[in-house]
Amino acid sequence: WGMEYRNNGGYKIPALGLGTYTVTNETELTSALDEALRIGYRHIDTASRYKNEHIVGKVLNEWISSGKVKREDLFVTTKLASADVFPDRVENALKSSLLKLRLDYVDLYLIHFPVATGVENGADVAYPTDLVGVWRKMEEQVEAGRAKTIGVSNFNITQISRIKKIAKIQPANVQVEMHLYFQQKELRNFANENNLTVVAYSPLGTPGVNKYFLSKNITQVKLPDILHDEVVDKIAQKHKKTNAQIALRFIIQSGLVAIPKSTNPKRLRENIDIFDFSLDDEDMQKLADLDKGKKAKIFTMQYIAPNIVENSEYPFHDNI
Ligand code: A2P
Repeated sequence: WGMEYRNNGGYKIPALGLGTYTVTNETELTSALDEALRIGYRHIDTASRYKNEHIVGKVLNEWISSGKVKREDLFVTTKLASADVFPDRVENALKSSLLKLRLDYVDLYLIHFPVATGVENGADVAYPTDLVGVWRKMEEQVEAGRAKTIGVSNFNITQISRIKKIAKIQPANVQVEMHLYFQQKELRNFANENNLTVVAYSPLGTPGVNKYFLSKNITQVKLPDILHDEVVDKIAQKHKKTNAQIALRFIIQSGLVAIPKSTNPKRLRENIDIFDFSLDDEDMQKLADLDKGKKAKIFTMQYIAPNIVENSEYPFHDNI
């Protein structure tokens, strides 16, 4: 496909990877991973929280042990679950992920959220935690060879800066929601100045989110849909590509990494088939103008929608 790579803390990260969030059905994920690897995906994103590391591990192990792919040609990311965002839990959490993944190391280990969470009386609660202490333990994972690089997810600039100030091993990567309607320009500039790779999750703006809202009886919010956006439609027609491909190409051409999730063979192929064309300056400008700022932050909306969407600033605990 003419895959591009970014420099992730001295290691090459493929600019297009496969997201696996919400896929826990073994048959579905196994066939998606097999197909993805077969057609050239080499970057897989999972997390302890997704409860599918054991499935990813089984497939990767088959591919590696049969010699169909070399471990060093894969880029595997997993994440420290928020229940484990405490200094004394980091090492065991990663060891447990590695056992499930059947790997000796991950290429990237991320703190999934800047908060520690637990369940009290059946409800989710967030605890303040010692992020600096957690980062020290993340660094130890690199020293022990269990992670090639470390980084953060769902952190804002203030939170990343706090870690950068004390880090002996700098965060290589920040993974956040990022798509045409929520372009994260400030965070991207910060990442650029500080040598952090940006990985965009929900790069298609989570098509189907409106259905999700309806299933939760949330009728007040209906999000615009990148896959049916007139500006994107026109640019897609011009390049004979789909709207999804334009949305992904915009991210790639902005120097970022995208990890669209799909388990559908046709869409898996569609999503990686974005390295044979370029958007021109005018296209890029029109697409940049689609940014709707915080209002389009889908992730926040799912969790705290809809009543405080307008005012909310995810992550919830800016001051920890
Ligand atoms: P599916 O697995 O059936 O392909 P995001 O990563 O932005 O959250 O989007 C993931 C969602 O978008 C999934 O529901 C996925 O469904 C769907 N999807 C993935 N690729 C495409 C595509 N090329 N066109 C339309 N929908 C897509």
